[in-house]
Amino acid sequence: MAKRPDATNQRKVEHIAIINEDRETDRRKFYFDEVRLRHRALPEINFDEVDTSIEFLGKRLAAPILISSMTGGDHATLRTINRNLAAAAERCQVALGVGSQRVMFTNPKSRSSFALRTIAPTTCLLANLGAVQLNEGFGLEHCREAVAALGADALYLHLNPLQEAVQPEGDTQFRGLAKKIGEIARRLGKPVILKEVGAGLSREDVQLIASRGVRHIDVAGSGGTSWSRIEHHRQDKRSANNLGILFQDWGIPTPRALWELREFRPRITLIASGGLRSGLDMAKALVLGASLCGMAAPFLAAAQQSTAAVVQQIERLQRELRTAMFLLGIRRIADLIGNTSLLMDPPGAEKRL
Ligand SMILES: Cc1cc2nc3c(=O)[nH]c(=O)nc-3n(C[C@H](O)[C@H](O)[C@H](O)COP(=O)(O)O)c2cc1C
Repeated sequence: MAKRPDATNQRKVEHIAIINEDRETDRRKFYFDEVRLRHRALPEINFDEVDTSIEFLGKRLAAPILISSMTGGDHATLRTINRNLAAAAERCQVALGVGSQRVMFTNPKSRSSFALRTIAPTTCLLANLGAVQLNEGFGLEHCREAVAALGADALYLHLNPLQEAVQPEGDTQFRGLAKKIGEIARRLGKPVILKEVGAGLSREDVQLIASRGVRHIDVAGSGGTSWSRIEHHRQDKRSANNLGILFQDWGIPTPRALWELREFRPRITLIASGGLRSGLDMAKALVLGASLCGMAAPFLAAAQQSTAAVVQQIERLQRELRTAMFLLGIRRIADLIGNTSLLMDPPGAEKRL
């Protein structure tokens, strides 16, 4: 909390520029290619019978699509991104998470970038703060303020030990966080969703948190955006202390994380993110137990362009998911979630994930 007032804001702008310039910050590991689904030549349904809608946090969404937490801050680019994403999420009735709202507390001018309820009056909006801030002076009031600023349906608390460890100014005080996250989950009055940012949550992590009132987990596994690689660009590239490239592919691949965490369902609702790049990846993530599929990097270029460009992306994903469901003979998303009989490989083969 003692950081320079605008350091957080400046970082947000740098992140977008780095991702725009270095395409390899998206690691494109395509881990979902290893998961294969059983084709049905006789699906016994018509294409137009396929219904991709779901209910999430008491709201009806047109598809299990989440535009994952990305940004917000006091800068025209960041405001444009959030407004385009919010308008598209509302038009298409999909969920939207905003990036970390910590910046709101050091730069009041950044608040307007999170005031998205007027643009997205009905759809599901998710607030966001770094869980490690709970060890840096943040508490229940900050969480409440973040939720109120957005008019959010739930609060994401993100865990990013890798990202913090590879930056010189990183917050690395992670001791005792599980208990504090549990306290927020019990007292906030809105659901708390725990997420990573691209290195995945493990069975041990979820065991620590499942008994403490957290009912939603976003695995945010590896395979897509690498925060280690992004942080590499923000430092002296020749320095021996720059560990960003060494750790760029660290983490639990998203399909593997979903598979490990399936034992917690249905008590815990799982969200898949990290490296999902198509509606086909979404179908696979749902079969592996996810109830909602998040994507961040695939929306970033479109969000800098226009609302229409984001809408196009969402419609593409929805069409791809619908096609996969038709070819599996599955009419409703509920029949896809956790339905491992749709996996091609025999039991045991999933160890390769
Ligand atoms: C530009 C950008 C900014 C992000 N900022 C945040 C953030 O502030 N808070 C957070 O929880 N996750 C953040 N993430 C992580 C994503 O929400 C997501 O979990 C992760 O990138 C994996 O998805 P992807 O591979 O589809 O990008 C960010 C991702 C991107 C691409």
